[in-house]
Amino acid sequence: MIRLEGVTKTYRGRPALLGVSASVEKGEFVFLTGPSGAGKSTLLRLLYRAEVPDAGRVLVGGRDLTHLSRREVAEMRRRMGVVFQDFKLLRRRTVGENITLVLDLLGLPEREQQRRAYLALRQVGLHHRLSAYPEELSGGEQQRVAVARALVVQPEVILADEPTGNLDPERSHELMDFLREAHYRGTTVVVATHDVTLIAAHPARTLVLDRGRLVRDGWGPP
Ligand SMILES: Nc1ncnc2c1ncn2[C@@H]1O[C@H](COP(=O)(O)OP(=O)(O)OP(=O)(O)O)[C@@H](O)[C@H]1O
Ligand SMILES: [Mg+2]
Repeated sequence: MIRLEGVTKTYRGRPALLGVSASVEKGEFVFLTGPSGAGKSTLLRLLYRAEVPDAGRVLVGGRDLTHLSRREVAEMRRRMGVVFQDFKLLRRRTVGENITLVLDLLGLPEREQQRRAYLALRQVGLHHRLSAYPEELSGGEQQRVAVARALVVQPEVILADEPTGNLDPERSHELMDFLREAHYRGTTVVVATHDVTLIAAHPARTLVLDRGRLVRDGWGPP
């Protein structure tokens, strides 16, 4: 499903990723961990083609992402649910609209968009904030909206960057349960987190990055 072959990504002469090779099978659940600056977000950005590598190849579903056209990139992203480290909610749209917008892109009828948005928000316990604007929510609430938005499209792949970064332990575990449910339904899930206790509580295959290098590919916390 996902394959990195000798991937190097450099920012202003400094490598953020260095010769990283790894693959994730369809339906796998994988943690990506390592200290701040290790390259976790960079790796995820390569997977949804927000960046292209300087060397090596990134393949998703057998396709080399570097050579996709704009239309193909858009098409690929529609099959992905991405939870960004900084949420990226649209500020001028309500919580409900942030979610119906992605469903609109899929061409779902309006009523179905509303229904699914409500259910997704109910899942993260925020259905009562449907008409609030993101800035009226706490950091943790915004994070839960971002997760609802990623899950609602029932994507083939979920990429989540520090999805529990702003949540208390109870909410973190609840959120992990949502991601695991998606995984049980067959979704491929990649979660970047520096939270080792989270990994300890939900053991799964764990890739460890350190200063841009893949230093471990094993089970459970490093
Ligand atoms: N757009 C950019 N321009 C310049 N340098 C960047 C850029 N993005 C990332 N970097 C650098 O690349 C390295 C890896 O950053 P990245 O964001 O991937 O780390 P991370 O593991 O996600 O860290 P964190 O746990 O803090 O989120 C860091 O040294 C960072 O400063
Ligand atoms: Mg990061």
